Amino acid sequence: MRVGIYPGSFDPVTNGHLDIIERASKLVETLVVAVLINPAKGKGLFSIEERLQLLRKVTAHLDNVKIDTFSGLLIDYAKELEADAIIRGLRSADDFEKELVMAQINKKLLQDVETLFLVTAPEYAYMSSSSVRELVLFGGDFTSFVPSPVVEALKNK
Ligand code: PNS
Repeated sequence: MRVGIYPGSFDPVTNGHLDIIERASKLVETLVVAVLINPAKGKGLFSIEERLQLLRKVTAHLDNVKIDTFSGLLIDYAKELEADAIIRGLRSADDFEKELVMAQINKKLLQDVETLFLVTAPEYAYMSSSSVRELVLFGGDFTSFVPSPVVEALKNK
């Protein structure tokens, strides 16, 4: 497979995301990790530029991974990149329900792109950007949830 897109909010990128990125990068020639610019979601914890910088840092060891942003519909971005696949991680049945609908809508809108699900490794199954943000907010220990450049960035927040 030539081009894969791994889209998300990545606010911030977690160890679970990084595991999916590393595994997906072995399946495609080029993996584009794409941060959604979503004005409706507000500023978030990290700005889009900060998220991009962190993603670049934590994927620096992966030659075929590119970091980018997109806005609007994912399928329009997929068309623009001539992507073959959209990659998403699945942690739970709850994820599956939401992801199935999204994949089916995307398939209806753009037949040429396949959605591929990678099952999250058990050690990352409970991790999410939103739980990291909550740990930060209430002073919990988030250090095992995120790669070390993100730990440093979070400590400075
Ligand atoms: O990390 P997230 O927040 O779970 O990622 C969700 C994302 C960015 C993959 C999804 O919200 C998305 O693709 N948004 C773009 C708009 C779109 O194409 N929606 C699907 C069709 S309704």
